[in-house]
Amino acid sequence: MSESINEIKKQIENCNKCKLCKTRTNIVLGDGDINAKIMLIGEGPGADEDKEGLPFVGKAGKLMNFAFDGLGINRKNLYITNIVKCRPPQNRDPEKDEIEACIGYVENQIKSINPKIIVLLGKIALQNILGSEYKITSSRGKWIEKDGIFYMPTWHPAALLRDENKKIQFWQDLELVKDKADEMKINY
Ligand code: URA
Ligand code: SF4
Repeated sequence: MSESINEIKKQIENCNKCKLCKTRTNIVLGDGDINAKIMLIGEGPGADEDKEGLPFVGKAGKLMNFAFDGLGINRKNLYITNIVKCRPPQNRDPEKDEIEACIGYVENQIKSINPKIIVLLGKIALQNILGSEYKITSSRGKWIEKDGIFYMPTWHPAALLRDENKKIQFWQDLELVKDKADEMKINY
């Protein structure tokens, strides 16, 4: 039996398994429907997420919400989380030891939620869920099927803020997610 999200919530409370525990305000476990068939995984909380205890509520999250709205995707039908659950200072990339300490939580979230589709937002999510042999530039926009789950790697929403081209590709990748969800009769 996989652990429920509530059990994971209890386990992560006061977590001090890595040094990010010293600088965080709130642990950001995840948000959305715990029975979602579509899950999204980002990198780690930023300043706004650290303050609110929720994923993707800042600038990048607002841009992602804008995409969801345009595509007719209801964020409430998804489950959204990150590779690390505490904010890396100055929004630096999470370090190897931090990811190693934290990765078990997202792995248990995947087991518990049991999604059919996982959208990997950026390189950190892609390489830590599927393996460092995957490169985001060549993998994005292409389905990877593994152990009965369809993975869609795409750009991290923060990258869209700086690059109009990536914005278009992000939209296209989410269209593919919608098509696959339609095929599988999944609500979004
Ligand atoms: N960037 C992420 O990777 N995750 C968040 O929750 C917010 C910004
Ligand atoms: Fe624990 Fe993860 Fe936070 Fe590190 S980042 S303290 S492992 S919850």
